[in-house]
Amino acid sequence: MKAQIVRKVLHAVVLACLLCPMSALAENAYVGTAACKECHEEQYDNFTKYAKKAHSDRSIKIMASDLSEAELAQCYGCHTTGYGKPGGFVSYEKTPHVADAGCEVCHGPGQEHVESGGDTELIKGKLTMEDCQGCHNESRVKAFNFKPLLYGGAH
Ligand code: HEC
Ligand code: HEC
Ligand code: HEC
Ligand code: HEC
Repeated sequence: MKAQIVRKVLHAVVLACLLCPMSALAENAYVGTAACKECHEEQYDNFTKYAKKAHSDRSIKIMASDLSEAELAQCYGCHTTGYGKPGGFVSYEKTPHVADAGCEVCHGPGQEHVESGGDTELIKGKLTMEDCQGCHNESRVKAFNFKPLLYGGAH
């Protein structure tokens, strides 16, 4: 069962292009979901309670022993926040606050928004399906037979 999932996942990864839609706002940095809590308590509570994204690191950890470093690096692109980008995921030890797929995988890096005390010009508010497709891409939708709706999986 586990091996089967690994194969399914790897297949989807190979087919997937790893363009995650997080490159807007170049200088801005990722800060992690906990940094949003004090001002957006409702979204925070809903997200951490109900969204699988809030635990997406677990999906990687349970399979990590079967995967090479190179394979793991591919997983991080979708299952963590901001992998390879300023402030984003580096490793579970160094950056535990961005180890899951948090608020910022959809809303983009939040540092400037947080530091400004909540300037709405500095965070992505309106989203489209394009903001999902970097991770929920065509081959993955086929492999898992699951296509998200824009308002699902958030809060
Ligand atoms: C292109 C983005 C992407 C990559 C790369 C990726 N995943 Fe995922 N993964 C997802 C998404 C999105 C889901 C949610 C299910 C879906 O819609 O496909 C998911 C779901 C899962 C699940 C849950 C499956 C289930 O049936 O509940 C596991 C486990 C998982 N991924 C492990 C991995 C591992 C291990 C890697 C690296 C080898 C990896 N993923 C790479 C995007 C990705
Ligand atoms: C799966 C993608 C996704 C994630 C993850 C996500 N959001 Fe959202 N968020 C959305 C969508 C979609 C909207 C509605 C945007 C629109 O109206 O076009 C939204 C709207 C919002 C709004 C505007 C008010 C509202 O509720 O409509 C706030 C504030 C917000 N999100 C904060 C957060 C915070 C804080 C987190 C993490 C705890 C988070 N979001 C995680 C997708 C996401
Ligand atoms: C210091 C308080 C503060 C923090 C911290 C904060 N926000 Fe906000 N945020 C606000 C305020 C104020 C607004 C405007 C009123 C509202 O929509 O709640 C806002 C609005 C938003 C919106 C809607 C933007 C729009 O176009 O309408 C999103 C999305 C959002 N925040 C996401 C986040 C995320 C993600 C984080 C964590 C990285 C975060 N916020 C952290 C104060 C904050
Ligand atoms: C950075 C990659 C990434 C982006 C961008 C992304 N997702 Fe996801 N999403 C994931 C991963 C990874 C999972 C699976 C988490 C797991 O089970 O390990 C997931 C799971 C989901 C689920 C499963 C149900 C649940 O409870 O979480 C829904 C629905 C979903 N995402 C909707 C969306 C929507 C809508 C958007 C765009 C607004 C979006 N996602 C953007 C990575 C992403």
